[in-house]
Amino acid sequence: MTHASAPRGVRLLGTGSAVPPAELTNKDLEKILDTTDEWIHQRTGITARRICDPGREGTYTLARDAVSRALEASKRRAEDLDLVICATCTAEMTCPSTACRITGALGATRAGAFDLTAACSGFVYAMNVADTLIRSGRFQRIGVVGADAMSTMVDYTDRSVSILFGDAAGAAILEADPDPSRGCIHQTLSADGSDWRTLYMPRRCQEIPPGEESNPIRLGYLRMHGREVFRFAVTKFREVIEEALSATKLTPDDVSQFICHQSNRRIIETAIEKIGLPRDKVHVNIDRYGNSSAGSVGLCLDELWRAGKIPQGRPMILVAFGGGLTWASSVWNV
Ligand code: COA
Repeated sequence: MTHASAPRGVRLLGTGSAVPPAELTNKDLEKILDTTDEWIHQRTGITARRICDPGREGTYTLARDAVSRALEASKRRAEDLDLVICATCTAEMTCPSTACRITGALGATRAGAFDLTAACSGFVYAMNVADTLIRSGRFQRIGVVGADAMSTMVDYTDRSVSILFGDAAGAAILEADPDPSRGCIHQTLSADGSDWRTLYMPRRCQEIPPGEESNPIRLGYLRMHGREVFRFAVTKFREVIEEALSATKLTPDDVSQFICHQSNRRIIETAIEKIGLPRDKVHVNIDRYGNSSAGSVGLCLDELWRAGKIPQGRPMILVAFGGGLTWASSVWNV
């Protein structure tokens, strides 16, 4: 691939998403856990989440369907893509990557493909990486998807974790544009690996940090220190939005939508209050889908895009944080 020397921007052509049809409600969880609909709703804002049927659905099928719908919405063919990036932490296989399977299934014969792991921050990481690659001149058109089937790594005997998560995928098709001011105009891609044990999934006993051995450990399932993650999320949420607004000299009024990772309604509400964001510009769907990790921001983006709430010519801000610990923001001139 040759390098295009003229500065270029990035155009968001269209979006797509996919969720499994089966719903797991708080009432369903009441039957298998020592919990109540009222407790879950009050602490998290969640009423239901979508859960894959393990025999028929998973991260790969959700990701594939989301990209396929995004291509359709963008009026582009799979053969037009020259790269597919799939952000996920629940890939069925690490070899091949989920992105490779998507290219095979959809017929994206010209595309390179790789998976990216940044937990719940994955979709925003992938959008920033894709924007940078297109601006480099080496890529023309990239399919980005965030997808997680969290139900495959949630222990449904652990009431403090299982109530939060659901399965979903959200995708976007990005294309080179002659206007350099279009696309991502400001981004953060950050991590603090010293705090990884607040949210992790050990596969081997060796990975369990000192001090945690006494807790009941089920290998292959997500472990979380909820209160610590909550504090981290509230702090980072505010920091990255304030930093993004100040770096771009935008005010909340200039922004069409703040598209935020759906981790807990209380985390989102706290950010709205502390930063003074207009409530109608912060989309919330956690009540219906729970926290779908890398799927969450792309799913919100697709709902807003299809509802005509992402007008061209105005900036939107994507924000996410999650395991790693990782966090990311992306200010887009659409
Ligand atoms: N139903 C009923 N009671 C529950 C419960 C459930 N599902 N889960 C925990 N409890 C109990 C606890 O055992 C504890 O009881 P105790 O006081 O007798 O010890 C009590 O409720 C309070 O637990 P705590 O963990 O302090 O609750 P919380 O208010 O922090 O809410 C979370 C728990 C998980 C909802 C909250 O910490 C959270 O959302 N954290 C962020 C998680 C997140 O966003 N993760 C993904 C990041 S991308």
